Amino acid sequence: MTRPRVFVTLPMAQEAMDLLDTKFDVLVWSNDDPPPKEILIERARDCFAFLTTVEDKIDEIILMAGYHHLRVIANCAVGFDNFDLEIGTKLGIAMCNTPGILTKTTADLAFALILATARMVVQGDRDVREGKWRSWHPLAYSGPDVHGATIGIIGLGQIGLEVAKRALGFEMTVLYHNRRRRHDTEKIYDLQFCEDISDLFKQSDFVSLHIPLEKETYHMIGRISLELMKPTAILVNTARGSVVDLEALYDALCNGVIAGAGLDVTEPEPIPPEHPLLDLSNVIITPHIGSASTRTRREMAVLAARNILAFAEGKVMPSCLNPQVVEQKG
Ligand code: GLV
Repeated sequence: MTRPRVFVTLPMAQEAMDLLDTKFDVLVWSNDDPPPKEILIERARDCFAFLTTVEDKIDEIILMAGYHHLRVIANCAVGFDNFDLEIGTKLGIAMCNTPGILTKTTADLAFALILATARMVVQGDRDVREGKWRSWHPLAYSGPDVHGATIGIIGLGQIGLEVAKRALGFEMTVLYHNRRRRHDTEKIYDLQFCEDISDLFKQSDFVSLHIPLEKETYHMIGRISLELMKPTAILVNTARGSVVDLEALYDALCNGVIAGAGLDVTEPEPIPPEHPLLDLSNVIITPHIGSASTRTRREMAVLAARNILAFAEGKVMPSCLNPQVVEQKG
C-alpha cells in the first residue's frame, strides 16, 4: 500500500524523520541549499505534507499547486512570514509553526550580539588572527559597558521577555514597547513601558528587536527612528531582516547617528558579500542562527513532525496557525 508523502525541504534531526517515517514516505531535499520553487510546486502536487524552513516561500502559486494533495505545512520556525497564511486557510491547508521551544535560545543569541557588539569581540578576534594586535593599549577596543546600561526591547513577547530577564541579570534598566501594555509582567520584572516608541529610542543604550515581520513592521527601523537613538546606541536584530531598512542603518553607522549594530537577520539573506555594511567594523552579522542550539533545532524539527502527525491522525495539533481549517473539516 502506498503511504502519503511528506516533503522535508532540508535535512533535519533524525528523531523527527523517524517520527514521520512511522506513517509516511519521507522525501528529504538532501542539499545545502533549499529547494527551488519549481521543486516545491512539483512536490506540492504529490505530497500530503511539507516540513519547511524559513527559506521556503510558500506563496499562492505553491499552495494552488497543492490544491488536490497538500493538506498540512509545518514550518520549522516560530516566524511564519514565509507563508501566505490567508491563501492557505482559504484552500483548507493547515499551517503550523514551532513556538516556545526556541525562546530562550534566541534570547541567548540576542544577548550574545549585545555583548559582542559592545565589547568588540569579533573585531578583536579578527585583529588577533591577522597579527594586527601588537600590545595592550589603554585606549584600544573600549566600548560601552553592558551592565548598568539601559536596554529598550521592542516587542515584549516570549523572546523579548527572556531578553529582559537576561538584561536584569546585568543590572540593566529595561524599557519596552509593545502593542499591548503588560501590566503584570511589568510589575514582576520591574520593566518600564514606553507607550510612545520615540521615548524608548531616545533613552536606550541598546535597542533589541523582537517583533514579527508584518506590513506594519516592515522597515520599522529606518532613518526617523535611527535619528532618535543616542549616538552611542547599539541596535540588535534577531527578529526578521526586513524590519530594518539596511540602507538607512548603513548611513546611520557611517555618520555616527548610532554606534553599532548586531544583526542575526538581514534583508536580503544572505547579505551579499560585497554589501557595504560588511566593510564596517562596528557591525556584527551572524547567519540567522537565533535558534541554532543542537537541542533547540532538534526539538523544533520534532515539534514540526508532531504537528504533521497530529493532523494526519485527526488529533489536536500542538501549534496550528489556522485551527479553523481543521475544525471545519471536523
Ligand atoms: C527563525 O527565524 C524562526 O522564526 O524560528
